[in-house]
Amino acid sequence: MPGELSPIDKAKFVAAKCAADMVEDGMRVGLGTGSTAAWLVRHLGDRVRDEGFRIKGVPTSARTAHLAKQVGIDVITLDDAGTLNITIDGADEFDSDLNLIKGGGGALLREKIVAAASEEVVIIADAAKEVGTLGAFPLPVEVIPFGWTTTQMLIEELLVSADVMGRRITLRMNAGKPFVTDQGNHILDLHLTRIGNARQLAMALNQMPGVVENGLFLDLCDKVIIGYSDGRVETRDINEGTVSQHRIDVEETENLFSDI
Ligand code: A5P
Repeated sequence: MPGELSPIDKAKFVAAKCAADMVEDGMRVGLGTGSTAAWLVRHLGDRVRDEGFRIKGVPTSARTAHLAKQVGIDVITLDDAGTLNITIDGADEFDSDLNLIKGGGGALLREKIVAAASEEVVIIADAAKEVGTLGAFPLPVEVIPFGWTTTQMLIEELLVSADVMGRRITLRMNAGKPFVTDQGNHILDLHLTRIGNARQLAMALNQMPGVVENGLFLDLCDKVIIGYSDGRVETRDINEGTVSQHRIDVEETENLFSDI
């Protein structure tokens, strides 16, 4: 099956495979959301099926929960888990300090709660997600539906004096209607182009009435695993300051998902 994938999906596939191999029997695992995280869930399901290992998964979205159950992973709530051994998730952007923009898939609120509850957070991504400075990807901000236009105006006022390059804000839509998150909220996408001071912006946004959470994940990520379409993977560990590289034989994994 990987042979039929696009180069970008092969890159996501190998990054996810590498991360899935880091998970140990009996772990409580936060399961991210998005196309890269979906590969992770399938790889973990394969290990559950073929190796008989048992993990408890805490999904960060309804669609990840659905896939996890489909591939045979025991799904529990974060309240049942308490803390997590590891969370593995995708990202929309990461920088050299492993700070992130997340929420392109609309699951940023649960993703941030789950990441904060984890001993280790591993991000899996293709190389195109790496940036010098965060902000080219629109920053998702989850807002409650009540008075969202007022919240948008307040954010617009905040951005006037913020260290950003763009200031346009759009309401995320889905099939002609405002997008609704798993928590019943809306998402404002902030087209900032470049975020000069991510820490300051994240704090200011979260102090605003109506804002539930923002998509800046700062000091949360421990490792990033970058996948390439030729099977190479690079793991960067921000705590150890190490970079390691190896290769995953994509051909060997060809039958992995034949029954999905
Ligand atoms: C989900 O809300 C996001 O945070 C995702 O992690 C992000 O959009 C990455 O998605 P892909 O793996 O599909 O690029």
